[in-house]
Amino acid sequence: MIRFEQVTKRYPDGTTAVDDLSFEVSEGELVTLVGPSGCGKTTTMMMVNRLIEPTSGRILVDGEDIAAVDPVQLRRRIGYVIQQVGLFPHRTVLDNTATVPSLLGWKRAKARARAAELLELVGLDPHTYGRRYPEQLSGGQRQRVGVARALAADPPVLLMDEPFGAVDPVVREQLQDEFLRMQAAVRKTVLLVTHDIEEAVRLGDRIAVYGEGRIEQFDTPGAVLGAPANGYVASFVGADRGLKRLSVTEIEPDDLEQPPVARVDEPAERAARRLRAEGARWAVVLDTGGDLRGWVGIDELAAGGAVGDLVHRMTAWVPVGAPLKQAFGVMLQHDAGWVAVLDGARFLGVLTPAKLHEALRRSVDADAQGVARGQVSFDSVSDA
Ligand SMILES: Nc1ncnc2c1ncn2[C@@H]1O[C@H](COP(=O)(O)OP(=O)(O)OP(=O)(O)O)[C@@H](O)[C@H]1O
Ligand SMILES: [Mg+2]
Repeated sequence: MIRFEQVTKRYPDGTTAVDDLSFEVSEGELVTLVGPSGCGKTTTMMMVNRLIEPTSGRILVDGEDIAAVDPVQLRRRIGYVIQQVGLFPHRTVLDNTATVPSLLGWKRAKARARAAELLELVGLDPHTYGRRYPEQLSGGQRQRVGVARALAADPPVLLMDEPFGAVDPVVREQLQDEFLRMQAAVRKTVLLVTHDIEEAVRLGDRIAVYGEGRIEQFDTPGAVLGAPANGYVASFVGADRGLKRLSVTEIEPDDLEQPPVARVDEPAERAARRLRAEGARWAVVLDTGGDLRGWVGIDELAAGGAVGDLVHRMTAWVPVGAPLKQAFGVMLQHDAGWVAVLDGARFLGVLTPAKLHEALRRSVDADAQGVARGQVSFDSVSDA
């Protein structure tokens, strides 16, 4: 969808901002550009909508050499979230959001209706926020308006320059989550600039790690963290890349252990006997369909009756496919030795700290060896 062919940009003063850049972004893909300040990220981005012209090389959008496309026509297809948001201070939030549709000559009512819809989409109630001016918003809210504005004309391509840069880490994570949800629904082709590797890993289908004016590695988050292409990338992604991998590695059914189980309709006495025989102190309680109901301790079973009358609610659980980081967070939050993993309401097993560690190891090693995760057996990595 977006293709760079040996693109170089030299500014008149001799600065080479981007040097012989070649890469491709597929349709519906989100590529993050990450690198230190001044490495050429914004320059790369602005060449895509012709706010900056390359010195040499070609850029194709949808198969078309953009040098031959009228810049105004081109920009209609490309939403742009600029660094520092750049809202018009003397226009309301609603009018800011409607900027591009208005420029495109949409009728006022239609442009405003679309703007309201988009504010809703980025989590801002248009009735509350639509009439405000940018200075009456928080930094995070302004950034949402920037995103809404870029989406207004429903462009297939979106360029986002540090769209979540100016907010604290908590709000930032919220905005990232919202954006991922939105992207899952609208599937734009996105180039997103950040200087934060965590953000790059979290958002990107693939990541371009920039050194000075050049891409040092262009690959999936897993591969960049698991198998950095060179020393520069390794030091950029940092020594704690195992930790970062927690966010990109998903819990798989094979990661789970099967604890003792009791059924809601089972007599407590019988369940207690079984647990004693297995040397277990507690059991997961399931209903007759295999859905999770909670847990019960062996001492409580002495009260008799049915297991279902003695069950505690289980709050430490995550859905299968969630990142390990989420499971780890739940473990810490509930001070639990393990978390239940569910598929919908159905109980699949529990994730223990040991299994979590194994899964992490498997994921790091698998990417380092360039093989699919599923092909690596536990045994080969657990004592490596
Ligand atoms: N108009 C210009 N004239 C000369 N040099 C420029 C110009 N614009 C940018 N540069 C230089 O080009 C290089 C790349 O700039 P660019 O804005 O692309 O960096 P960046 O990666 O976006 O940085 P940041 O993370 O700080 O936003 C920098 O060294 C910058 O000083
Ligand atoms: Mg920049």
